[in-house]
Amino acid sequence: MSVAPDTPVVLVTGGSRGIGRAVALRFAREGYRVIVTYRADETGALSTVEEALASGAPGAFHVHLDVSDPASVEEMAREVSGKCTHINVLVNNAGILQTNGIKDTTLEEWERTLRVNATGPFLVTKALLPLLEKAPWASIVNIASIAGETGNVLAGIAYSTSKAALIGFTKRLAVELAPLGIRVNAVAPSFVETSMVRSFIDTPEKRERIRKLHPLGIIVKPEDVAEAVLFLADPARSRAITGHVLRVNAGRLT
Ligand SMILES: NC(=O)c1ccc[n+]([C@@H]2O[C@H](COP(=O)([O-])OP(=O)(O)OC[C@H]3O[C@@H](n4cnc5c(N)ncnc54)[C@H](O)[C@@H]3O)[C@@H](O)[C@H]2O)c1
Repeated sequence: MSVAPDTPVVLVTGGSRGIGRAVALRFAREGYRVIVTYRADETGALSTVEEALASGAPGAFHVHLDVSDPASVEEMAREVSGKCTHINVLVNNAGILQTNGIKDTTLEEWERTLRVNATGPFLVTKALLPLLEKAPWASIVNIASIAGETGNVLAGIAYSTSKAALIGFTKRLAVELAPLGIRVNAVAPSFVETSMVRSFIDTPEKRERIRKLHPLGIIVKPEDVAEAVLFLADPARSRAITGHVLRVNAGRLT
């Protein structure tokens, strides 16, 4: 890919659909070179890449990644290193939902949820840190959830725990990487209209119930989250902000 060496580069995990796709396209419109990772849906990832290029990205490509598998993370980092000299923005977006309470949550379900949602960002960040360090400026944005702050009952016990862990990871990492000039922040959305939570709004009655849970009377869209991610990532907008958790919740606190 022949792009100017100072072109900013963003890597979004889980960019084939939902919030990850909206984030990738938002950065494309800002002129970033875009890398999207996908686990199973290569067609979705390719469509994000094509739309990113059509939206103004000077370059874009997709790469396979299972964030829960250390070998896959290493392979992804190798592939990206072969194509990019640096990464400016890492968005740890890939995640899975889990909805059971403690009585119904199996150990396997607990471990799987923590592995994808908390260990995944740890592995990916660790593997890509050398590329972030090579950038003239860099920042990391983790997609957490208000479930990690409030004990939201739409989400399960393992999901809330995993997102609370991701918030702790964000704060600790922000302190550690600050001397390198790398900022680390998180976005904590409430309910966002994506396939992850489609079953909560698949009838007009259910949709209305979710809408009413939000004081602003709206259901948050992936594009609303993408704006917050861009704000936290871009030093021109937030150079003095690190270790912060920005709620994108339409006013919903529980
Ligand atoms: N939708 C919501 O209401 C909501 C609210 C708060 C936070 N979030 C968080 O936002 C992020 C994006 O979710 P979404 O709503 O777009 O859901 P989604 O299900 O549409 O997207 C999740 C993405 O993560 C990827 N993924 C899942 N497991 C993976 C793995 N092991 N390795 C690599 N990729 C994997 C999927 O392939 C998919 O691309 C998640 O971290 C989610 O927890 C979502």
